[in-house]
Amino acid sequence: MERIQSALAKARAARDRKLQVTNPVTGKKVAETGPWPALGQLTLNPGHLERNRIVALHPGHNAASFDVMRTNLLRTLRTNGWTRVAITSPTPACGKSTVAANLAFSLARLADTRVLLVELDLRHPSLSRMLGVEGGQNFAASLAEGKVDFAQIRRAGDNLAVALNSRAMENPAELLSAARTADVIDEIEAQLRPDVVIFDLSPVLVSDDAIAFLDQVDCALIVAAADESTVAEIEKCGKDLAKRTQVLGVVLNKCRYREQEDTLVYPE
Ligand SMILES: Nc1ncnc2c1ncn2[C@@H]1O[C@H](COP(=O)(O)OP(=O)(O)O)[C@@H](O)[C@H]1O
Ligand SMILES: [Mg+2]
Repeated sequence: MERIQSALAKARAARDRKLQVTNPVTGKKVAETGPWPALGQLTLNPGHLERNRIVALHPGHNAASFDVMRTNLLRTLRTNGWTRVAITSPTPACGKSTVAANLAFSLARLADTRVLLVELDLRHPSLSRMLGVEGGQNFAASLAEGKVDFAQIRRAGDNLAVALNSRAMENPAELLSAARTADVIDEIEAQLRPDVVIFDLSPVLVSDDAIAFLDQVDCALIVAAADESTVAEIEKCGKDLAKRTQVLGVVLNKCRYREQEDTLVYPE
């Protein structure tokens, strides 16, 4: 565990050095002159979002469990000086993308918090459909080219930027573990300076795609489906993740026995 912590601290320190860039002409922090204002805006349809269980756009009862999760997450990130959180699960369809998107919208409602949501479940991209924005974005292609391409990143409101994929990719583990993928993501973070980066990853037990990316994150949240994920699956997933990153906890999703809320927040 100590070895992981020291490796994470080193990676974080290296990223921080890159992030402390100032514009040599204006002397301003990059964030002030950065690419946020130029990102294309996504047009979101509230009815479509709700039908797809994206409910955290506005405060209220439906968003409450995501708001609690957001508060716990922010505290953990700030305490540790982290920004990057992976969302993964033992098996497919536990609700990773649903939780990732809701958490991102919930965080972005905080006026002083900038959020970057990155879709990296590259075999099964779903966020464009979920958000109702079939606009041909292909963030993975910019990773494959090793280029920062802000045309592949759009804004949803003032504080949320999303990197989406409209095409599935076979065998993305090599891309996800490539040094230049890490460099592109570091550069995007250096320019956008988000407070939180949420990576919507693949499930852990069906391929090595998620594991291949874990060196790039500070911590991970496991999304389990209450009636579908077995204890053995959750344990195996947690153990595999813990070898490479800090596991924050398990979000128990799809809880049918709770009448009002169907997502439980991860334990502290
Ligand atoms: N809390 C929930 N209750 C019921 N269905 C859910 C819940 N969360 C997600 N779903 C549904 O389960 C399916 C899989 O969710 P998704 O977020 O795409 O999973 P993953 O990204 O883990 O593959 C989607 O149809 C989604 O609407
Ligand atoms: Mg998904």
